[in-house]
Formats: sequence, structure tokens, C-alpha cells
Amino acid sequence: MNILGISFGKKNANTDILVKEALFGCREAAPDAEIRFVNTCNLNIGRCRGCGACSTQLEKGKDNVCIFKDDFQALEEEVRWADAIVLGAPVYVLQPVGQFKDFVDRFSCRHDYSAITYVLDGRRTGKFPGDPDAYPMERLKKRTVSYVSVGGASTENWTSMGTATLHLFGFPPMMKVMGNYNANAMGLIGNPYIDPELIENMHEMGRRTVKGYYDDSVEFFQPASKPEGVCPVCHQRMITIMPKSTKVECPVCGIEGQLRIENDEIKVDFSEEQQNRARGTFKGLREHTVEIQGFGSICGPKIMANKEMLDQKMKERIKGFDEAIKNV
Ligand SMILES: Cc1cc2nc3c(=O)[nH]c(=O)nc-3n(C[C@H](O)[C@H](O)[C@H](O)COP(=O)(O)O)c2cc1C
Repeated sequence: MNILGISFGKKNANTDILVKEALFGCREAAPDAEIRFVNTCNLNIGRCRGCGACSTQLEKGKDNVCIFKDDFQALEEEVRWADAIVLGAPVYVLQPVGQFKDFVDRFSCRHDYSAITYVLDGRRTGKFPGDPDAYPMERLKKRTVSYVSVGGASTENWTSMGTATLHLFGFPPMMKVMGNYNANAMGLIGNPYIDPELIENMHEMGRRTVKGYYDDSVEFFQPASKPEGVCPVCHQRMITIMPKSTKVECPVCGIEGQLRIENDEIKVDFSEEQQNRARGTFKGLREHTVEIQGFGSICGPKIMANKEMLDQKMKERIKGFDEAIKNV
């Protein structure tokens, strides 16, 4: 088994320590595994520039590589190599540090299981050119992942979007999530090694990341000391209130639930059907693929019908903007 730890924190600081301790837990469950670790702090990972070259190339029968070359490619190769991953990131202003999102924006869409297989199926039917068997499907192999979000504040709501945002890494390639640990209060704890329970929790999360790879009955890691999740899929406690109803949505999984109050406690019921269409399932991903693939046939004719007006308008407005607003 190939096991990878990724830390978006400072070298040898809290995130590094927690990810590495989780890797020791992985090793307890898989003594013969090869284990690698990447600290990204000094890596140069630029933002996705939305050029669309990756998806366009795929639809033209080629590989969906990112055409911008920096340290992104080396980290991407490590993720592709791994079977089990522990990923940690510090919370900067309520969410994981921005470099994490820059990596996700360039990695995750290009490893979207549904988007890729949609095009490969299209190659089989002639909708898209190219050899359907040329794509290296091992990039989308089965993987387990665990997340650790590291925050300084003891007030938990100062880390409110930490673990939730970490889920964005693994859902497009349908990685099986075995834990999402909010290691908050580091400012109070001082150093992870002062808190033996925290270290033991990392080991247990690591063990489950390995065991969950081989055995579907191994459960998501829910330590007794942490509040239970509301969403049964991602185990987060965030909900979006739907207007004029008692329905809610999980913003991570995109599934609908029914809100109710029981003994002064808020409960949300998510049906099996909804759970089976969560964003990190093939069904959930495919709903999105079909939606965005349909845009062209709706938008294309509208743009063509208004082409003259739009060309004129854009020319006028760009000139107007440049005259009125200083580009700095
Ligand atoms: C720019 C910046 C913003 C931060 N914002 C938050 C925050 O919103 N909530 C929080 O709990 N901690 C916040 N922290 C504290 C870090 O999450 C904390 O120090 C963490 O241990 C850093 O990870 P590292 O030790 O692995 O580098 C912030 C730190 C920095 C540098």
C-alpha cells in the first residue's frame, strides 16, 4: 500500500506534527506500506487561471493535463501514487490556508470521476474523438482519505469552515473519507505533544484510513470528545436553510434534509435516496456533469442570436471602462 501525508502548515509546526502522527497510525495498520510526506509551505503552486485547456484537451481526445507548470505537478503525482492519504491544513481566517484551495482548484476538477468517464463514454459513441482506453484510469483508483484542520482559536466557530472545506479535495475523485478532525484550540494547547488524547486520535484516524481501504465495515472516525455530525455523509454540522420551508441542505454534499425539533434538539433527516446522490458519489457528480454539459446547447444559440449586439457592447464598454477606470 502507498500512504501519503500532505501538510499545508509551516515546516515542523502543528499541522506537520498531527499529519505525521496520523501516518504513524497508518503504519500500525500497514507495517509494510511505503509512506511519504509532503510539506507544501515553500512550494510554488499558482492559482487555476480558468483557461479551460484541461477539459478542452480531453474533449479533443487528448490528456487533461494542466498546462501551467510549477510545483503543482509534483504534488499531483504524489496524490496519484497514493492509496491512502492524510491531509492537514491550518485554518487561516476561518478556512484552510489559500494554497490548499489553489491546489484543489487545479487538481480536483481534473480528477472528477464523472466528468472524465462522461468524455470517455463519449469517445466510445463517437461524440468525442480519441481512444477511450488511452486515458490512465489508475489516476481515479480507489483511495481513502482523512482530514485534519488545525486552528489556533479555542472558540470553535473561529474554525467553522476548516474541515468542511477540506472535503473539496477528495469528493471529485470519490475518495472514501475516514475522518475529518477539527484540531482547534492549538493556541491554548500550545503543542500537540502536550495533549496525549489528540495524538492518540491522530493515530486512530490513521489506522482507520488504512483499514477502511480494505474493509467497508470500518466506520468513519468519530471521537467521543468531538460533537457528532449532522450530515451522515460528510459528518459536518453545517446546514443551509431553504427558503419558505423546513427543508435544509448540506452545503458540502449538496443533499436535502428535513429539519425537525425533538426534545428541544434540532434534528435533520436525510433520506437514503438523498445520501446516495451526495456530491462525492457517482450519481451526485453525474448530475453536475449533465447540467454543465447542457450549458452549451442553451447558451450557444443565445450568444449567437445576440452576437452583433454583444460584440458592439463589449467593444464600447471595454473602451469606456479603460477611459474611466485606471488599470493598476
Ligand atoms: C493569517 C493567519 C490567520 C489565522 N486565522 C485563524 C482563524 O481564523 N482561526 C483559528 O482558529 N486560527 C487561525 N490562525 C492560527 C493558525 O491556524 C494556527 O497557528 C495553526 O497552528 C497554524 O498551523 P501550523 O502550526 O501547522 O503552521 C491563523 C493564523 C494565521 C497566520
